[in-house]
Amino acid sequence: MELLRTGRLRLRPWTARAGDLDRLTDLYGRAEVTRWLGGPPTVPAAELVQRWATVHELNDLHGCWAIEPLDGSAPAGTVLFKPLPSGVGEIEVGWHLHPDSWGHGYATEAARAVVDRGFDAGLPEVYAVVRPGNEASLAVCRRLGMTPLGRLRRWYDVELEAFRLTAPERAD
Ligand SMILES: CC(C)(COP(=O)(O)OP(=O)(O)OC[C@H]1O[C@@H](n2cnc3c(N)ncnc32)[C@H](O)[C@@H]1OP(=O)(O)O)[C@@H](O)C(=O)NCCC(=O)NCCS
Repeated sequence: MELLRTGRLRLRPWTARAGDLDRLTDLYGRAEVTRWLGGPPTVPAAELVQRWATVHELNDLHGCWAIEPLDGSAPAGTVLFKPLPSGVGEIEVGWHLHPDSWGHGYATEAARAVVDRGFDAGLPEVYAVVRPGNEASLAVCRRLGMTPLGRLRRWYDVELEAFRLTAPERAD
């Protein structure tokens, strides 16, 4: 998986190194994060890393990256770009940040990078889905310029605020 760079971040694969696994275990062990994800992951961190590697192996447009601030601080969290479950091929962008890394604009900056990468590869549109009441995540969707589609029960078997962003017109 290629590395992505933004002004303040490096996006790279999560690894099975102890530092990454500890950070993932901490991040996905926090109720203030997992309450918005439908609960904690059902598998340990090492398996998350493997599954995310598989996401990219199956389709190199997709991926789940560690968001690494260039200032040397611990990975801020995960940005995801992958198909929505039980959809018809819609691609979802998602963000899971450690609470110690909220409030810096990292989620929006990382999401913009993976969305632009998808659009550059020819993807026509991207979706985000947010649990009602998750104001911080709704704000990320707005910052990204996404269009609200209202509450839909189309994915994840639960009613979610859905958003869509359409690729800019291409010059070619
Ligand atoms: C959703 C979540 C990623 C949002 O994180 P966030 O840090 O608030 O989002 P952003 O990266 O867009 O950062 C915006 C904040 O950084 C601030 N900020 C500080 N410096 C900034 C900079 N240089 N550039 C941009 N924003 C900056 C903004 O003012 C804003 O803060 P505010 O909300 O107090 O106004 C985070 O709350 C989270 O991980 N929650 C738990 C998991 C979750 O809900 N995931 C989404 C499931 S749908």
